[in-house]
Amino acid sequence: MPTSRPVPSLAPSKFLMQVLDRVASSYDQPVLDAPCGFGRNALALASRGYDVIAVDNDVARLKSVEVSGALQSTGSGRIVTLCADLVASRLPFRNSSFSAILCIHYPVQKVIVDLCTALKDGGWLYVETFGGQGQNYLELPKLGEIPEALQGFELVLCKERPVGPPSQRAAVVQLLAQKRGGADRKS
Ligand SMILES: C[S@@+](CC[C@H](N)C(=O)[O-])C[C@H]1O[C@@H](n2cnc3c(N)ncnc32)[C@H](O)[C@@H]1O
Repeated sequence: MPTSRPVPSLAPSKFLMQVLDRVASSYDQPVLDAPCGFGRNALALASRGYDVIAVDNDVARLKSVEVSGALQSTGSGRIVTLCADLVASRLPFRNSSFSAILCIHYPVQKVIVDLCTALKDGGWLYVETFGGQGQNYLELPKLGEIPEALQGFELVLCKERPVGPPSQRAAVVQLLAQKRGGADRKS
């Protein structure tokens, strides 16, 4: 008998939903969800009318996003999926292509520079790392690493919680930041 696979939860990040009005306040270009996984956050945004570019390197997950997106009611925003490796390849987007960017449950320190460049001035960056269970600290950013990478952003919310062995300086991060004009330009 075939074994049934667990169905992934499509409930979006609770905290993202709490700050969504702010994340969407600069909306006039699509939102980037990178990586999107099974699309729980992209689907939540699309159901509220926002167009989303959903990037992941797992084709099966992207297919699932497409199927779930097609099942959502008409009149919702569009989801365009893109299979890409966020680390190995440069993202194929022009600078300032997105009005907001979500990076949820992913080692954001690996992609923060590219995400900042892809965000328009005045756009919102939402970061939520995974928790600090088990060996997760090995993949988490260092304390202060993400806020320091966001020169030229206003940190509207920034929570960092140290996890793992103190010598590792790993941190669980939850952050909402707005890109100021000129953040890409070096002084
Ligand atoms: C824990 S899931 C989180 C997905 C989504 N942000 C969410 O909150 O549900 C992490 C995702 O990162 C994707 N991923 C891992 N490494 C990647 C890479 N180098 N490039 C693109 N996607 C990657 C995996 O395929 C997986 O879907």
